Amino acid sequence: MSSETIWILARATGVASLLALSLSLLTGVALRPQSLRWLSTNRAVSELHEYTSWLWIPLGIAHVVAILLDPYAKVGLVDLVIPFGVDYARLQIGLGTISLQLLIVVMVAAYSRRALTRGEWLAFHRLSYVAFAAMFLHSILSGTDLAYPWLAGAAWLVAAILVMASVRRTTHRVLRRQPVPVDR
Ligand code: HEM
Repeated sequence: MSSETIWILARATGVASLLALSLSLLTGVALRPQSLRWLSTNRAVSELHEYTSWLWIPLGIAHVVAILLDPYAKVGLVDLVIPFGVDYARLQIGLGTISLQLLIVVMVAAYSRRALTRGEWLAFHRLSYVAFAAMFLHSILSGTDLAYPWLAGAAWLVAAILVMASVRRTTHRVLRRQPVPVDR
């Protein structure tokens, strides 16, 4: 396989994995306030959440393997364990490592859900917000394709929708906790 093909593979699988993770976060955040009810049933949204939460894995693995094989990227196995060690684009690539490690923690916690209390599981699951933020910055800052304004614009739009959906979910939760006013 030529280094050009490997580079294209790295970019394509990176963007595809970002898309899968964005869909996973959006459907997860939309579940409780049922924000996507205008589009489909909550059950379908939940199934899409579960599907995309697994879908990013083979794509993410393919991205990382392609980056390891890319002779120009100069990323080694040790960079998957210790972030910010690459000689160039230290921050950008380090954020990729951090996001991958956090996502592994989230996935392992999701897999071991029965062994955890609800509080413990939620704490681990909420790490996915931090993981997504790190992965989004990694993608925007190190991307070749994401340097194209139309793709970068689409990515920022998706990120803005995710922020709005997260704010909606939080306000929904806070409002639900407030006592119902008693009519006099
Ligand atoms: C699940 C985790 C990850 C996701 C979703 C992801 C996603 C992405 C995306 C979307 C891009 C931009 C592609 C483009 O615009 O052309 C990218 C680029 C890149 N990623 Fe990742 N990444 C992840 C983990 C990693 C890790 C762990 C490393 C290495 C330690 C890494 C190294 C790189 C490099 C070197 C580039 C630049 C490729 C180029 O030359 O264009 N990524 N990544």
